[in-house]
Amino acid sequence: MKVLITGGAGFIGQHLARRLRDEHELVALDVLHPQVHLHPEASRAAFPGEVVIGDVADPHAWDRVPRCDAIVHLAAETGTAQSMYEQERYVRVNVDGTRLAGERAAGWGVPVVAASSRAVYGEGRHRTTDGVIGFGARPAGSTPEDSTEDDPHHPVSVYGQTKSDGERALAEAAATVPVSIVRPQNVIGPGQALHNPYTGVLAAFLARLREGKGLLVYGDGTQTRDFVHVHDLAALLHWMLEHPPTPGDPRILNCGTGVRTDLNALARYAIEGSPRDDVEVEHVDVTRAGDIVDACADLGRVRACGAPLPKVSSRDAVAGFIQWSWDKPGADSQAWDAALGELEARGLTS
Ligand SMILES: NC(=O)c1ccc[n+]([C@@H]2O[C@H](COP(=O)([O-])OP(=O)(O)OC[C@H]3O[C@@H](n4cnc5c(N)ncnc54)[C@H](O)[C@@H]3O)[C@@H](O)[C@H]2O)c1
Repeated sequence: MKVLITGGAGFIGQHLARRLRDEHELVALDVLHPQVHLHPEASRAAFPGEVVIGDVADPHAWDRVPRCDAIVHLAAETGTAQSMYEQERYVRVNVDGTRLAGERAAGWGVPVVAASSRAVYGEGRHRTTDGVIGFGARPAGSTPEDSTEDDPHHPVSVYGQTKSDGERALAEAAATVPVSIVRPQNVIGPGQALHNPYTGVLAAFLARLREGKGLLVYGDGTQTRDFVHVHDLAALLHWMLEHPPTPGDPRILNCGTGVRTDLNALARYAIEGSPRDDVEVEHVDVTRAGDIVDACADLGRVRACGAPLPKVSSRDAVAGFIQWSWDKPGADSQAWDAALGELEARGLTS
C-alpha cells in the first residue's frame, strides 16, 4: 500500500520509513524544519520515497500530497522547554496540523496512526502514603506509578497540552476511520538531531562528553524517565499500521520500556558508552518550566493486545546512541547553555 508519513524526514520518521520501505510505497509530507535539519537536502535524499515539502498546518500543503492508503502522522514541534515561550507555533503545528491529518484520513477513508506523547500525563500517576491513587502534581511522600493509557491528562508544558489537544483533534476522524495513537516516552537512537538544543538530554551529554566536560544534570538527578529505543517504537508503529482498530473505537498505546532510569544512571550509561572515563557528573540547581519529575509507561495494554514489546534496554539504547553519534557532527555544548539562558531570560527557570 501507499503510506504517507508526515514528518517522515525526521528522526522517528526515517527509522519507520526504513522499516516499511520493502513492503510499502512511501510518501513524506515534511517542512524540513531548519531547527531539525542542518542539511535539509540530505534529509530529503535519505527518505526512501517521494518527499512533498510542506507544512502540515497549511491546508494547501495537503492538496499537493498524492492519495495514500494510510497516514502515519509524526510531524510536530517537539521542544518541551521551547514550547513554553513559542506557544502559538506549537499550537498551530501540533493541534491544527493534527486536525488536518485526521480530516485528510477521513476524506480519503483511510486509517491514521498518530504520535502523541507521554507528556499528556504530566507528572502522571502516584500512590499516596495512604495508598490512594492520584494524578498530576505529587503530594509529599507519594510514590510515582507507571502511567496507563486511561489515566487523565495533566500536562505541565505547552507541548504536552498541544499533544493532548491534538489527540482530541482526531476525535471527528475517529468516528469514521480507524485512529491509532501512540504515546512514546523518551525515544533515543541513531539519527537523533545532535545540533538541536531544544530537545534531548542525551545530545547535550554527548556534546559535553566529546569536549571532556562534566555532564550537567539539572537537579539532584533522582528524577526518572523511561528511555525507549527508536527501533522499538518503529516496530510498534508498524504493528499499529497493520492492525487498524474499528472506526469509532480508537486505540491508544503507550510506548516505553516500562523500566525507570534516573538521570544519574542515564549520565553513567552515557559515560560508559563513550571512549572517555575522565568525565564527572555535575549537578546544577535549576528547574525548567514544563519539566516533570518522573515518568514511566505501563505496558499492560500493549501486552494485552499482542503488540510488540520493547526489546532494547535503556542502558543498551544509551550506549548505542553515544557510540553511533561519537564521530557525527553536532552542536557544541555551548548551544545547550544558550538554550537554558533563553529560558532564564524569560523567567522560565527556578
Ligand atoms: N523523540 C521523542 O523522544 C518523542 C517522544 C514522544 C513523542 N514524540 C513524537 O514523535 C513525533 C516525531 O518526533 P521526532 O523525534 O522524530 O522529531 P523530529 O523533530 O526529528 O521530526 C519531526 C519532523 O517533523 C517535521 N516538521 C516539523 N514541523 C512541521 C510542519 N509544520 N509541517 C511538516 N513537517 C514538520 C520536521 O521537519 C521533522 O522532519 C512527534 O510527533 C513527536 O512529538 C517524540
